[in-house]
Order: sequence, then structure tokens, then C-alpha cells
Amino acid sequence: MNEHHQYIIDFLNTTEDLSEAEKTSLTKYVKDADRALTISEFKLERTEKVKRTTAILLEETIEELEQKRKSIEDTNNALSKSLEELKATQAQLIQSEKMASLGELTAGIAHEIQNPLNFVNNFSEVSQELLEEMKEELAAGNYDEVNEIANDVIQNLEKINHHGKRADGIVKGMLLHSRSSKGEKEVTKINELVDEYLRLAYHGLRAKDKSFNVKLETSYNPSEVTAAIVPQDIGRVVLNLLTNAFHAVSERKKLHPDSYEPIVTVVTKAESDTVSIRISDNGNGIPKAVLDKIFQPFFTTKPTGQGTGLGLSLSYDIVKAHGGELRVSTEDKKGTDFVFSLPITN
Ligand SMILES: Nc1ncnc2c1ncn2[C@@H]1O[C@H](COP(=O)(O)OP(=O)(O)O)[C@@H](O)[C@H]1O
Ligand SMILES: [Mg+2]
Repeated sequence: MNEHHQYIIDFLNTTEDLSEAEKTSLTKYVKDADRALTISEFKLERTEKVKRTTAILLEETIEELEQKRKSIEDTNNALSKSLEELKATQAQLIQSEKMASLGELTAGIAHEIQNPLNFVNNFSEVSQELLEEMKEELAAGNYDEVNEIANDVIQNLEKINHHGKRADGIVKGMLLHSRSSKGEKEVTKINELVDEYLRLAYHGLRAKDKSFNVKLETSYNPSEVTAAIVPQDIGRVVLNLLTNAFHAVSERKKLHPDSYEPIVTVVTKAESDTVSIRISDNGNGIPKAVLDKIFQPFFTTKPTGQGTGLGLSLSYDIVKAHGGELRVSTEDKKGTDFVFSLPITN
């Protein structure tokens, strides 16, 4: 018992100024007060304990938080490093995909250059013969003949120049295609671009595989439409969609060598403010389970060495970057239809 309370009780018991009843009741009050005090003291002590434990816990939590902050910071650093590595790898991949599609183009390009080269060779031989003739006519004094031959030679030289420039353009286009820097947007004639890449893709494949045959059906928008595009990028989209289509029809041809005619269709069509470019094949179509993945980088169903799995994902990105859409629809055993649209400039 609290010593002051004890003192009061002792005093109450010894005093003679109070009755017994008063003493008993006052003693009871003091004892009640003492009990209440004990309980309060106990509670206070408990609260103190809780306070101390909480302080310790708080300190621990702060320490833990600091550790967590540090590890988040470390993770962040590691993440931004791997992001940078990823970006570098991606740039490399895009470049190697470009080189792969350049490989697909080379045979086609060689074929395209062969024609102007033949012209240049033929016309220069003919011109040489004409000049020999001219010398003879000069010696004979037949100036009218000389004049006529000179005009022929001039015409031939014009042709030589024209075809030389054409070959030059093809080579330049090839260099443009392989360049790694970001291309500039140019106002480009869509029908011409699509047709050029169609020829390159077709002859490229024919040069590699003589047995490859496909019926090409084209329907170009009657009037020429132009769009502000990076021509070699959109060219790659066309090239990849065509390569895929050619692959799909030749796979189906292997299954039905006699009863099946491979057809690839290319359509350009101007709508109000866009032009759509559609590339369809009558191959086997894309199964549902595959369809969900075709735009993922590295997804391919082709054997190693034949497919990079990057064609469609890059095509998708290129079309998106041009403000367009790339869509696919496919039907089992009927074929596949890829279409993308671009905003037009006129
Ligand atoms: N026209 C098509 N017909 C059938 N399957 C296609 C067609 N185009 C694309 N695919 C499927 O989509 C996959 C991914 O195509 P792509 O990204 O161009 O990579 P890759 O041609 O290197 O395999 C192909 O492996 C193929 O399974
Ligand atoms: Mg492909």
C-alpha cells in the first residue's frame, strides 16, 4: 500500500475525534483510493512498455525501409542498364533484319539491273558499228549519209544514258535499303513503290528457286496516289508481306502439287484520306493458336535459318510509325490477307 495512504489509515485508527462507524467508512475510502492508484500505476507501466517496444519496432522499420530503398535503387540502376543494352541489341537486330531482307532482294536486284545492262551493251556495240560506217561514208564524201548516221548515234547515246541512269537508280535504291540511319520521309508514288518491290521479291525468289511459280494478280488504284513515307521502310513491309505470302503458297503447293494453283494478289486502293495496300495469298492460312503470336518479335514457325520471326513485328512498328494500321485476316485452307493503310498527301 502507498505509504501516504498507510499513514492516513494509521492516523484514523488512533484518533479519538471520530466514531467507529466513521473510521470504518473513511478507511474503506482510503483503501479504495489505494486500489485505484495501484491499477493506474500498473496501467501506466504497461503503456510505457508499449511505448518502448513501439520505438524499437519503429527504428527497425526505418532501417528496413532504408534497406529496401537501397535495393530499389540498385534494381533501378540494373534496369536502366539492361534497358540500354536492350536498345542496343534491338538496333542491331533491326540492322540484321535489314541485311537479311537485302539478301532476299539481291537476286531480284541483279535481275533488274540485267535489263538496262543488256540495253547499254547492245546500243554501244551498234553505235560502234555505226561510227565505223560513218568513217567510210566520210571518206567517200557522202555527207547526207554521215548526217543520218550521226543522228542515229545520238539517239543511241540517249538510250544508253537512259538505261545507265536506270541501273544507277536501282543500285542507289539498294544502298538506301541497307543504310542503317533513320530514313527521311519523302513524298512517294505508292503504286510505283509497291510494283518495284513486287518485282524484286518475285525475281529474287525465282532466282533462288527456279521451280517456284505463282500467279501474280495486281490491281493498282487507277490514279497514282502519293504518301509521305520513308520509302525503304515501307518497301520492307511490302517485301516481308510478299515473302511470307510466297512462302505460304509454296508450302501449300508441296502438299498438293497437282490440284493447286498458287495465287498472290496485290491491291492498292485510295480511300478518302488513306491508301490501303493489300497483299493476299491462297496458302494454308494461319491457325488460331499461331495467329495470336505472329506480331511478336522472334515468333516464327519456319525452320531455323529460314525465318527470323522479326518481319511482321518490324512491319507492324513501321506502319504504326507512319500513322497507319496493319491488319490480318485469315481462313483455314483458304489463305491469308494482310492489309495496311497509310495517310495520303493529296
Ligand atoms: N501469309 C502467311 N500465311 C501463313 N502464315 C503466315 C503468313 N505470314 C506470316 N505467317 C506466320 O507468321 C510467322 C511470323 O512471320 P514473320 O514475322 O514474317 O517471321 P518469319 O517470316 O521470319 O517467320 C511466320 O513464321 C508464319 O507462321
Ligand atoms: Mg517473314
